[in-house]
Amino acid sequence: MSTKPLAGCDLLGLKGLDRETLGHYLTTAAEFEKIIKRDIKKVPTLKGKSVITLFYENSTRTRTSFEAAGKYMSADVINISGSTSSTTKGESLRDTFLTLQALTADCIIMRTPFSGAPEQAAAWVDVPVINAGDGMHEHPTQGLLDAYTIQKVKGPLDGLKVAIVGDVAHSRVARSNVWGLSTLGADVHLVGPNTLMPRDISQLPVTVHNTLESGLAGADVVMVLRLQLERMSKALFPTAREYHMTFGINEATLRYAKPDAIVMHPGPMNRGLEIGGDLPDGHQSVICQQVTSGVAVRMAALYLLLGADGIEG
Ligand code: NCD
Repeated sequence: MSTKPLAGCDLLGLKGLDRETLGHYLTTAAEFEKIIKRDIKKVPTLKGKSVITLFYENSTRTRTSFEAAGKYMSADVINISGSTSSTTKGESLRDTFLTLQALTADCIIMRTPFSGAPEQAAAWVDVPVINAGDGMHEHPTQGLLDAYTIQKVKGPLDGLKVAIVGDVAHSRVARSNVWGLSTLGADVHLVGPNTLMPRDISQLPVTVHNTLESGLAGADVVMVLRLQLERMSKALFPTAREYHMTFGINEATLRYAKPDAIVMHPGPMNRGLEIGGDLPDGHQSVICQQVTSGVAVRMAALYLLLGADGIEG
């Protein structure tokens, strides 16, 4: 492997990335986590580089952590939201990307409701494109930050049982986690009603369960997904109450997993729906750690893709 194996690459999905590459992101993130735990969490690593975030969907964690990641490394970060960009005047996505490149962006980070749009956009520009979530397809930095968080708390992923629970069908987070975690050696189980399972489920390296009892049995990690009501065109479960009773993760249902299992959620959470009200604040929850990991992982991604010269700049 050369010293800068990922310089100039895009980060569009975790499907197809090998173990060595995933490991490279995670070990680099660990170096950046040390930096953000310092009193002064700023290094000159990306001084003189500009990073543009282009978000066509709402976001709290992902957009802010990319912005923080860039700023902690001294990059100039410019944020554009879909609703304030010229796409509302009819500009095509291709022209938007060519414009951002002409504005001398060194990296473009995109969130979009359209699966596959970042991959298409990456072909139009020479600078690295990072997929910050595309439709129901992938969310690679979320998959990396989840792997990073699990590894930090539980040690190597080899052989760990990870149960991903809920609305898998609409979840780009679940897809990135399935690819990333299984490549890293975890045993991935999907749990939920068939109406919330993806159509191509037989092609995923997972075991599927329709009850929490069997899906959570022996789980080291319980990853809860948000019910993505905005992506559902018809009712896929009877009522919110019924859903919580059957697939909600709360103190009682968590007992099906190992006693020391950790609870994860990518956020935003619907408390009382997919996850019990107090559980996110309990001792088994690593939900806030996931957010901090997100900053470290995004620093690692910017550092590696932009081919910076050294972590401290
Ligand atoms: C997720 C997303 O937008 O894909 N959130 C996130 O990035 N942390 C999950 C969700 O919206 O449910």
